[in-house]
Amino acid sequence: MPIIYANDIGAYFMSVNNSITVGNVTIPSRVFLAPLSGISDQPFRKTVNKYSTNLTYSEMIASAEIIRCTKQSKRKSTLLGEEGPIAVQLAGTEPYLMGEAAKILEDRGASIIDINFGCPAKSVVKKLSGSALMRDLTLATKIMDSVVKSVSIPVTVKMRMGWDNETLNAPELSILAEEVGIQMITVHGRTRCQFFKDQANWKFIREVKKSVGIPVIANGDIKNCEDAVNCLTESGADGIMIGRASQGRPWLLGHISQFLKNGVIVPLPTMVERKSLAINHFHEMLHHYGIESGIRNSRKHMAWYSRGISGANVFRNIINNTMDPFVVRSAIEKFFQSNERIFRI
Ligand SMILES: Cc1cc2nc3c(=O)[nH]c(=O)nc-3n(C[C@H](O)[C@H](O)[C@H](O)COP(=O)(O)O)c2cc1C
Repeated sequence: MPIIYANDIGAYFMSVNNSITVGNVTIPSRVFLAPLSGISDQPFRKTVNKYSTNLTYSEMIASAEIIRCTKQSKRKSTLLGEEGPIAVQLAGTEPYLMGEAAKILEDRGASIIDINFGCPAKSVVKKLSGSALMRDLTLATKIMDSVVKSVSIPVTVKMRMGWDNETLNAPELSILAEEVGIQMITVHGRTRCQFFKDQANWKFIREVKKSVGIPVIANGDIKNCEDAVNCLTESGADGIMIGRASQGRPWLLGHISQFLKNGVIVPLPTMVERKSLAINHFHEMLHHYGIESGIRNSRKHMAWYSRGISGANVFRNIINNTMDPFVVRSAIEKFFQSNERIFRI
């Protein structure tokens, strides 16, 4: 833990505004949960928000699926009972459909509609969606314009730095975004062609920040309080977004928020706390997906919770080979109980 920052940089950050206002939405923290397909579902968002009220992002949902009202898209856009503002992320390439899908999501209770201009996956890019739209700023602008005009809630955009190192056009796209009424921009500090390689470039995000007057959020490789401070300092961004580092550590966003607000380093949860956290998360998964999918979809989360703790292999072996929710629950209890004496990891 970066204790060195508690007095100096922590104190500096105390003087900074710790909420962000996006249109009619006030977000009480500058630390957001990233959209993560297959991960940032309702159970995970609720688990993250137990530690502080953050802006959380849904998994990316294809506009065509929303229009067709597929079962999966309905599940992905289930928002009832969640605390804190939720941005629902839309992907697609057809301006009219994107606008229509956004209207449906507004009716379902989304606080913000976020447009995906960052997904690098071949299957998405092939359909001229996600980061492919950073190569077609005319179409990207039409999509943003259509979505903004279709809803009364704020519309935001998440993008990468550009397609490749030769076309770092995030500042240009951001200017167009602000002109059509986009109210916040998140930049993942990599190009599409980098996928997840190399270190995220936080300094580049400053170019976007200098280009627009709306809030800019920096994303990529933020794993702890020290990274959060360094990223905010290098990028000049208004807030940060955290993805992979929250896996198995849903408390991370709350802890970083606390640190940015008052310089306090919150102790890591004890094994007793982690046990009840994992059990609650597991129950939420069963409720959200039903028993069979709930058990299957929980496995990765349980594996992340157990990472680095003694007996993790045996624990994973049990939960990966049962379809009985009582066996899973009892394995979670036993695993954390047998590690109760470990103070912190
Ligand atoms: C498994 C996984 C799923 C993702 N799904 C989405 C998504 O649906 N929409 C999106 O904009 N970005 C998605 N991303 C990208 C993340 O939101 C984020 O930009 C990226 O992981 C970098 O942040 P990090 O280093 O904090 O993880 C995904 C990333 C991962 C690893």
